[in-house]
Amino acid sequence: MKRIAVIPGDGIGIDVTREAVKVIETITQVTGTRVELVHFDYGAEKYLREGISLPEGMLETFRREYDAIFLGALGDPRVPDMKHAADILFGLRFGLDLFANVRPIKLLHPKLTPLKNCTEKDLNFTVVRENTEDMYVGIGGFFKKNTDDEVAIQESINTRKGVERVIEFAFKLAEAEGATTLTMSDKSNALRYGHDLWQRVFEIVGKRYPHIKQNHWYIDALSMQMVKKPSQFKVVVTSNVFGDIVTDLGAQLQGGLGLAASANINPNGVCMFEPVHGSAPKYAGKNVANPFGAILTVQLMLEHLGYKTEGRLIENAVRHCIVEDQTTQDLGGPLSTVEAGNAVCHAIRAQA
Ligand SMILES: NC(=O)c1ccc[n+]([C@@H]2O[C@H](COP(=O)([O-])OP(=O)(O)OC[C@H]3O[C@@H](n4cnc5c(N)ncnc54)[C@H](O)[C@@H]3O)[C@@H](O)[C@H]2O)c1
Repeated sequence: MKRIAVIPGDGIGIDVTREAVKVIETITQVTGTRVELVHFDYGAEKYLREGISLPEGMLETFRREYDAIFLGALGDPRVPDMKHAADILFGLRFGLDLFANVRPIKLLHPKLTPLKNCTEKDLNFTVVRENTEDMYVGIGGFFKKNTDDEVAIQESINTRKGVERVIEFAFKLAEAEGATTLTMSDKSNALRYGHDLWQRVFEIVGKRYPHIKQNHWYIDALSMQMVKKPSQFKVVVTSNVFGDIVTDLGAQLQGGLGLAASANINPNGVCMFEPVHGSAPKYAGKNVANPFGAILTVQLMLEHLGYKTEGRLIENAVRHCIVEDQTTQDLGGPLSTVEAGNAVCHAIRAQA
């Protein structure tokens, strides 16, 4: 029995998580896999009502009592400074030391990509984004704020330990996936300190994996190559900010943000799984958001928990729905969020 904390969050996070939960329930009915879901209402609504974002002690509870966390999305225009979202999202990522953000860029059907003559085998790689350092740690400050002489400083942190563990993780992932190549991407030609460290550590760790081909692209060139010849990539490892950006590019190559899934991993602890997209406030509660990114995130989560067959059932079901145009409007289909979720559940049952 696995115990999963479910945090729908805000906006369309709530809409897509409902469908993700339906898929988990269908999987448990079809396969007999035993999963306990425990729901948490952390998000803007609770924050505005009670002033609580992520209650004290919850990280310890998640660590001790849960096997995984599923998160919808965070962000609400009523909280313009995003305080609750930062507390919850960064609270989980930093607090649980989820240092590897794993984001598959996987084309499920050629009709979904804007790339010409690109098939499923041409676009199938994984980006490992460092998830606990760089500019997102919130170190910096203002000087002479709101004057003409204002200075704003945002520090980028790169530690030896942080860079080494994420590169090592990427090599291990490449090994586990049978990938022959690992690509490291940085901007070491311009960022002469932080990314010099990435260069040196990549070389050192790479010596432990002589059987994996190692190559390097500057991040601007990587973006170009992702469009020009994506088939060259198997596993890509990069820093937090660059990983954030290139995975949005990757999401569009695979069919849009509504399809992109991600895992936040600490190999020695409880991990958190979330679709890549945000809370898209303009679509919130309108039953139009694409739930496939959240559903494919369930696949990542179940596979991480050791349920490989169950994960495969989910991916096959989503592929089937795409082939049959049983999709939401962003993918050109006629379905609502709820109908698209139902279609996936139906396709899972049909395989049983
Ligand atoms: N991890 C997270 O929780 C996370 C990630 C990104 C953004 N955010 C937050 O979400 C809020 C909105 O941010 P944003 O508009 O920049 O990004 P967003 O991902 O919410 O939406 C951007 C656009 O992508 C499309 N889109 C995204 N998800 C979709 C889906 N499931 N189905 C169909 N179309 C979809 C929509 O056109 C949408 O307008 C902000 O508050 C932002 O800070 C949160």
